Amino acid sequence: MSDDSTAKPRHEDLVDQRLVCWYFAAALTFLFISMLGGMLMALQLVRHNPFAGIEIFSPGRWRMIHTNAVAYGFLANGFLGCLHWAVPRLTLRPVLDRRLSVLIFIAWQAVVLATAGGLAFGQAQALEWGETPTWIDPVAQVGLLLVAINFMAPISKMSGPLYVTLWYFLAAFIWTFLTYAMGNFVPEYFVAGTSAGAVGGLFIHDLVGLFVTPLGWGLMYYFVPILLKKPIWSHGLSLVGFWGLAFFYPLQGIHHFLYTPIPMFLQYGAVISTIAVELVVTTVVINFFGTIWGSGSAVKHNLPIRWFYTGMVFYFLTCFQCALQVTMTFQALIHFTDWVVGHAHLVMFGVFSMWILGIMTYLFPLLIGRDWYSRKLCEWHFWLSAVGIFVMAGDLILGGLFQGWSWAALQPWDASVEVSFPFWFVRVFAGLAMFGGLLVFLYNIWMTWRGEEELAVDSATVPAPAS
Ligand code: HEM
Repeated sequence: MSDDSTAKPRHEDLVDQRLVCWYFAAALTFLFISMLGGMLMALQLVRHNPFAGIEIFSPGRWRMIHTNAVAYGFLANGFLGCLHWAVPRLTLRPVLDRRLSVLIFIAWQAVVLATAGGLAFGQAQALEWGETPTWIDPVAQVGLLLVAINFMAPISKMSGPLYVTLWYFLAAFIWTFLTYAMGNFVPEYFVAGTSAGAVGGLFIHDLVGLFVTPLGWGLMYYFVPILLKKPIWSHGLSLVGFWGLAFFYPLQGIHHFLYTPIPMFLQYGAVISTIAVELVVTTVVINFFGTIWGSGSAVKHNLPIRWFYTGMVFYFLTCFQCALQVTMTFQALIHFTDWVVGHAHLVMFGVFSMWILGIMTYLFPLLIGRDWYSRKLCEWHFWLSAVGIFVMAGDLILGGLFQGWSWAALQPWDASVEVSFPFWFVRVFAGLAMFGGLLVFLYNIWMTWRGEEELAVDSATVPAPAS
């Protein structure tokens, strides 16, 4: 990224800081609700359901609220907040229309709340990750279109080559719109049976790969060089990562349904493209470790960098895990076990939530205009979250193996439940640590907001368009 100070617009004209704050507040509120739902489920699985017998608090419904609130409430709101900061500063142009941004903000919260309400009152669709009640789907689809238009307008006005972050963002806007349409309308109205299963598998995986992943990596390519004050190690490698993702990711979805009646050539194709994407992912991780090479001490004193690189280590681990679990041999053991739940938490919290929370740790003082109330509480937030997710993922992955061995030995179902109990207990405590971390973060934000010390956003950090 080069710096062109003569043509640099003022930060205040580019970024609507209040809106970024609102998005982050909404994201953290839904993370709070989601974690409550997770705790409820976790307690239910150790036979301590505090709301036994109350229909709207039944674990099946809260499980869906847990996952939907995380995906559409926390991750989507967190990403939208980050995009409202990063896109105008990278393109040096504001979004298409600030009023549209506010409208989208309000509409999106209504969609997520209506989804949670609909799920609590039993209106879920029988589609994994597409449980959103049918009447909400068209509204969410229009919302995604408006988001794409609002952000693509400033990007489309740029001339010259685009910085890799904008490649990822552009792709994410288009892919998310298409992925949502594929998952929420095609199996619902156009195809049935195993074909619907195949489309559902594509949808589940593309939500992670074509919505969350490009936004996450795009943000890393933006924030890491700014915080380390040096360019990304290899621009060429970043393009390998982008095009590798674009080519291999959409082919993998059926790996969620191995050993099902879906034709075997599709299942084998998904296995091969999954292994191919692991290689691509490795190039991205190498690029970021190449970037921090020589500045490793930043992980100690620069908290956002620590969040980011911890997320990257978890990313590498989760991809390595994926390369194992996608093989037919491994699937025969771990399919339907807690191994998969461990994997899901590692990627969703250990990677993408870590990145969003790291960005929030960096941006909140700039948004509120005050330095953190307590650096120590920031440390507590990090350690409770990092250790919590490490223990939760490790525990569930191990528990999954024991469940798989129990089933493979043809033991009665009860035996596999008994063997799972110690792991489910540990999950409760790991969840409490993560939840505790969130509470500490919320308290720190509140105290920072109430503080007096002023901190101005350094307009000099507005980078010129990348070329
Ligand atoms: C307080 C912390 C948390 C606890 C106690 C918790 C607990 C749970 C439980 C009990 C389930 C259901 C597992 C089952 O059906 O057997 C679940 C599913 C899930 N959770 Fe969490 N969770 C927590 C935080 C999170 C966070 C922060 C995220 C994402 C950022 C997340 C993402 C998921 C996902 C993606 C699933 C679905 C897994 C699958 O279908 O394989 N969880 N969680």
